[in-house]
Amino acid sequence: MKILVATEKPFAKVAVEGIRKVVEDAGYELALLEKYTDLQQFYTAVADVDALIVRSDKVTAEVVDAAKNLKIVVRAGAGFDNLNLAACTANNIVAMNTPGQNSNAVAELALGMMVYMARNTFKPGTGSELKGKKLGIHAYGNVGRLAAHIAKGFGMEVYAFDPFISADKMEAEGIIPVATAEELYSTCHFVSLHIPANDQTKKSIGYNLLSKMPKGGCLINTARKEVINEEEMIKVMTEREDLKYCTDIAPDNKEEMAEKFTTRYFATPKKQGAETAEANINAALAAANQIVKFFKTGDKTFQVNK
Ligand code: 3PG
Repeated sequence: MKILVATEKPFAKVAVEGIRKVVEDAGYELALLEKYTDLQQFYTAVADVDALIVRSDKVTAEVVDAAKNLKIVVRAGAGFDNLNLAACTANNIVAMNTPGQNSNAVAELALGMMVYMARNTFKPGTGSELKGKKLGIHAYGNVGRLAAHIAKGFGMEVYAFDPFISADKMEAEGIIPVATAEELYSTCHFVSLHIPANDQTKKSIGYNLLSKMPKGGCLINTARKEVINEEEMIKVMTEREDLKYCTDIAPDNKEEMAEKFTTRYFATPKKQGAETAEANINAALAAANQIVKFFKTGDKTFQVNK
């Protein structure tokens, strides 16, 4: 069996060494394609492999087509919007993610971003504290739940909206559940996005929700840029000079945002939510172990194209 790790944004070296050990201990071969600059390199590298590990690398129909032996692809991470699931399914390829493995890194970044914005992006002048402020967690999954937990350590009052998680579970964890996204945005000083990018959520965060935020409201996005309606965000931030946006996934209109909103807007230069040694190791090892288990026992836990 040959397993390819194809990462335009490579894992930390220690994580790659961990993958190599898992793969070689199982008697398999590892191939590595890092920092590729041309998709042709990806198509060539994937041609003879049985398994593929990626990060946010797009596994398109073209990649699937080029991978004639491919049986399993694992997205080492949570969001699998970069995988063409229909193409995988049509070619009998099992697609998986590694949920929860990099969540703490992302949750820590979300709270760090709140501090950064509350302190005027570290420019001289008087900022504010997170203590006593209301935080809205938009989707109470692995990352949202950890962000909520850390926020409570800051003394924030934490609310959450998630139609897939019961109010009882949230309440048992000290979180105030709300019934609608509108209620979350109209209640909270900070809203932290933890929704996936899919047909239901794309462009779903726009004028309607953002205009409801209290004075000085700040949106934190460590999820996906695709969930934002960028035109509507510009409109509402132009009308409301108090609103702020901090994101780990630069918008398509990043130049316009930076020019128009200067200190009220910040985007990391390259997505770094999961860029910790710990998260890299956790996600990379989970991906390698899931592949070995799949080949040795047929285990399909974490399959996302069922
Ligand atoms: C995820 O969905 O797990 C995160 O967005 C991390 O993505 P990355 O592996 O590209 O850093």
